[in-house]
Amino acid sequence: LRIAVLASGRGSNLQALIQARAAGALPVDFVLVGSDKADAGALRHAHEAGIATFFLDPKDFADRRAYDAALFERIAASGAELVVLAGFMRILDGAVLAPWVGRVINIHPSLLPRYRGLHTHRRALAAGDAEHGTSVHYVTSELDGGPVIAQARLAILPGDDEQTLAARVLALEHRLLPAVVALIAQRRLRHLAPDGVALDGHR
Ligand code: GRF
Repeated sequence: LRIAVLASGRGSNLQALIQARAAGALPVDFVLVGSDKADAGALRHAHEAGIATFFLDPKDFADRRAYDAALFERIAASGAELVVLAGFMRILDGAVLAPWVGRVINIHPSLLPRYRGLHTHRRALAAGDAEHGTSVHYVTSELDGGPVIAQARLAILPGDDEQTLAARVLALEHRLLPAVVALIAQRRLRHLAPDGVALDGHR
């Protein structure tokens, strides 16, 4: 399976994917890694792994739709069959995304539908939740709103603070994301359009 990864930050989830592939646990080709941040750690990790990278600056575009159109033009040209958002901190335009729905997944650090958006660990602690975790879901233009594919959960411990919780959730993410991408690569997961019809998105 040819995959493209979009990331805005440190890129530890990208790194987990790269390592899973190196370990023989992920039958994918990384065709492209893109970012909206020139200094994203993810671009460095990709470069070190010999993966093609690009940076697109949102400031160079009139609006979000124009930016996202340029982004997905690059992705389409790369031949990617699946797009993985790994810490990509932008909402995608619905019209640009539409032909890709079912072929774009995201990892989010909460048990969706709880805590869409930012500061998920802080919010889980403040709510007194007994459990927390991470979700991989299909991307729609609704922030962290698409259908959930898989989750990994953990118990919140009495001494937990935002940092300890974030660290344990991140460790879960590094296992969950490669596992889900592997399922897709092995064609063991059917891509569904929002109307429940199977897509033959990744040929
Ligand atoms: C992860 O917690 C992911 O769930 C969220 O952004 C973070 C990205 O971390 N969407 P990294 O850049 O992969 O280290």
